[in-house]
Amino acid sequence: MASPLFVSPEQAFTLRANYGTPLYVYDEKTLSAQADKVLAFPNAFGLTGRYAMKALPAAAVLRLFHSKGLHIDASSGFEAERALKAGIPAENIMITAQEIPVRLKELVGRGCLFNACSLHQLEIYGQLFPGTEVSIRINPGLGSGHSNRTNVGGPSSSFGIWHEYTDKALAIAARHKVSITMMHTHFGSGADPEVWMHCARLALTIAAKLPEVSRLSLGGGFKVARMEDETGADLHEIGTHLLPAFETFEKEHGRRLHLEVEPGTFLVANGGALLVSVIDLVDTGEEGYRFIKTDGGMTEILRPSLYGAQHPITLMTSTGRKEEENDYLVVGHCCESGDILTPEPGNPEGLGPRSFVRPEIGDILFVGGAGAYCSGMPAKNYNSFPEAAEVMLSRSGEARLIRRRQTVDQMIQNEVADDE
Ligand SMILES: Cc1ncc(COP(=O)(O)O)c(C=O)c1O
Repeated sequence: MASPLFVSPEQAFTLRANYGTPLYVYDEKTLSAQADKVLAFPNAFGLTGRYAMKALPAAAVLRLFHSKGLHIDASSGFEAERALKAGIPAENIMITAQEIPVRLKELVGRGCLFNACSLHQLEIYGQLFPGTEVSIRINPGLGSGHSNRTNVGGPSSSFGIWHEYTDKALAIAARHKVSITMMHTHFGSGADPEVWMHCARLALTIAAKLPEVSRLSLGGGFKVARMEDETGADLHEIGTHLLPAFETFEKEHGRRLHLEVEPGTFLVANGGALLVSVIDLVDTGEEGYRFIKTDGGMTEILRPSLYGAQHPITLMTSTGRKEEENDYLVVGHCCESGDILTPEPGNPEGLGPRSFVRPEIGDILFVGGAGAYCSGMPAKNYNSFPEAAEVMLSRSGEARLIRRRQTVDQMIQNEVADDE
């Protein structure tokens, strides 16, 4: 199922009148439904669902998922602090970061959990917190993603402790009397479900070599279908296939592993959209292209420019025009030729015109599948465009502003004046 069109044209024009564009819109109903699916992931001996907050770190979203019972995966000390400020209990936050947080001591002291992502991180953790428990992230030797940029397992990935180094990890832990009670893996974003399952089984064989491990996190990476022709991962099916492997593990190793999953994309991708206005229409002649220029772009939705990600785009007109369709490229507002919302499928460098009814300046485009890695991963303030506003639609369809549009003063507030 492709990402839902959860805003009607009429609603889109009202939202623009009230909040302006570009505007992120989140749909509480879709977000809640996705959380329910994660929390129902079939498991043999217990489950913790974590939300990988890097996907969309707005406090309103963190609180919504907290109220549903999800915990948090923070990818930096700053994310952990942000989650704490949003009211998430420290013990619900696990830090899986490439950079050891400067305030690690304070964060762990408050109750945050730490997942050591390298032997160096484990060494530092051991020095700071001897006699405690820790989780380690393992690179299982294989990964999968919708592009090489999002595959985070295997020999070309720097994420996690290489699976052949479990002895080294155990030796460091023993030196500091630290128990490795949890093992974590994350294979990539938008993973092929088959490869994901294979990696999960591989992770179990590695967990067998870590005798005190009682929790296994298999990360996120579940594919969602944004476009019509895409198929998303079925969590129920994946979990059902995986469950017997945990039972076999218990029979063979006498350990009932508590399962963790920590999706980002799956939880928020299709519960978010970006509304942008058509600001100009240009073309490059008979042999060229027609362009729809919008007031958003890589400053709000970097994924198409960064790795050719495909997002569904629906033209919303105030007049409900239904004229002959033509092909158009949709581009953003930045002075950057790469600021394009319609790259060619499968070729990030190429152009992928799409068919729309005749657009007019002032129309609105609903860019779907924009909940994950959009407002949290923009080309921030490029061309000095301010951060866009964000609204949450309640179950009854009422809009609530959850982030104001940034002002120019806020953009420059940390610059130091010549006379300071
Ligand atoms: C450690 C970790 N866990 C979870 C995720 C979430 O991945 P996804 O959004 O594909 O579910 C990521 C994404 O990069 C990650 O690095």
